[in-house]
Amino acid sequence: MALGGVFRVEIRPLPRCGHREHQSRSPIMRVLSLLSLLALEISAACINAEAVTKPPAGAVVVDLNSKDAGVYKTIQDAVASLPNDSSSRTIFVYPGKYRGQVILRRPGATTFQGYTEDTTNQGANTVTLSNSLVASVAGSNAKSATLQIYASDTKVYNMNFENNYGNGGGPGSQAQALALSQSGERNGYYAVGFYSYQDTVFTADGTSYFGNNYIQGAVDYIFGRKGTAYFYNSILANSNRGFITAQGRESDSYSAAFVFDKAKLITVVNGTDNKMYLGRPWGNHSTVLFKNSDFGNVLDARGWTAWSTTDPRTDAVYYAEYNNMGASAWGSSRASFAKQIGKDEAEGRWSVKGTLGSDSWIDSRFR
Ligand SMILES: *[C@@H]1O[C@H](CO)[C@@H](O)[C@H](O)[C@H]1NC(C)=O
Ligand SMILES: *[C@@H]1O[C@H](CO)[C@@H](O)[C@H](O)[C@H]1NC(C)=O
Ligand SMILES: *[C@@H]1O[C@H](CO)[C@@H](O)[C@H](O)[C@H]1NC(C)=O
Repeated sequence: MALGGVFRVEIRPLPRCGHREHQSRSPIMRVLSLLSLLALEISAACINAEAVTKPPAGAVVVDLNSKDAGVYKTIQDAVASLPNDSSSRTIFVYPGKYRGQVILRRPGATTFQGYTEDTTNQGANTVTLSNSLVASVAGSNAKSATLQIYASDTKVYNMNFENNYGNGGGPGSQAQALALSQSGERNGYYAVGFYSYQDTVFTADGTSYFGNNYIQGAVDYIFGRKGTAYFYNSILANSNRGFITAQGRESDSYSAAFVFDKAKLITVVNGTDNKMYLGRPWGNHSTVLFKNSDFGNVLDARGWTAWSTTDPRTDAVYYAEYNNMGASAWGSSRASFAKQIGKDEAEGRWSVKGTLGSDSWIDSRFR
């Protein structure tokens, strides 16, 4: 199918604010210009967009269209050029539709920055990396992922990652084809888009933070056994009926969890109202919290479901909800193994720091 075609939801970036002028002018002109600034600032359509349109100092540069020596044409080549040491490095990517996989393994911190006019807005992204690979051919779930992070202190800004392996006719007719495999500590994904159908985002282990993301899929499309991940202010786009999460914690001897804060659930492509579940337990200690989120009318009234009828795995799950809104928020038909929790538990135990152990590494523009 055509790249990006039916998968893509257009989220139009908000217009940027007018630039402030600092020349000295007559008092009346200054008053007029102040008034017009005020008008801009109170019009809700205006935000203080922060652009990143030039490579930061020292960055390795990627540009599909460049003929300059020293500029890489693929993101993978730029990654391969980085020293395998503990230094911090940045890769800057100019706009374009790139192809292939990116696999990051190095001891140092690595930052990926896509060209953007508005860094906190995923809808303004100009860089997409696409690949089409199913896990059964790749050899494992992780190896099918378009972006594979096996490193710590990684930051990814303003890029979209797609796995375009088919989109099937619905649950049961699909196979694992990942957009992200996340492994390692303190990795941040900021204004990033992840697009697939089944198993879009995999948090294999470690700690990760997703701020202002867009994540699309239908079946178990956010999953992981040992990873702990905090998703803030992100859009979860449901392209068919299915399950948003399949968290796979298998015992209480270790912690692993997904926390969603201010998520917005929407339907796209073949998604229809009342056909999604927040999760089903891949592991029998599956641990997931949704708080302060807008469910719209997206969920089945039961909210959560068993792994399967013959193998429910629901006895020891932690499926929690706090302060959500929308027609499909908590109601009398909720699954018996789900619960509502209070503010102390939702915002204390499951604060960013409570969830991830530390929060000093998180970019404050995305929380
Ligand atoms: C990178 O360095 C580590 C040791 O720090 C080593 O184990 C690994 O094989 C190296 N990788 C490459 C691609 O050279
Ligand atoms: C949507 O439904 C059509 C028709 O059944 C199917 O061909 C297509 O693969 C589906 N796409 C997704 C993302 O579910
Ligand atoms: C959970 O699953 C493990 C194996 O994966 C099993 O040993 C254990 O008994 C199960 N616990 C419960 C409460 O079902």
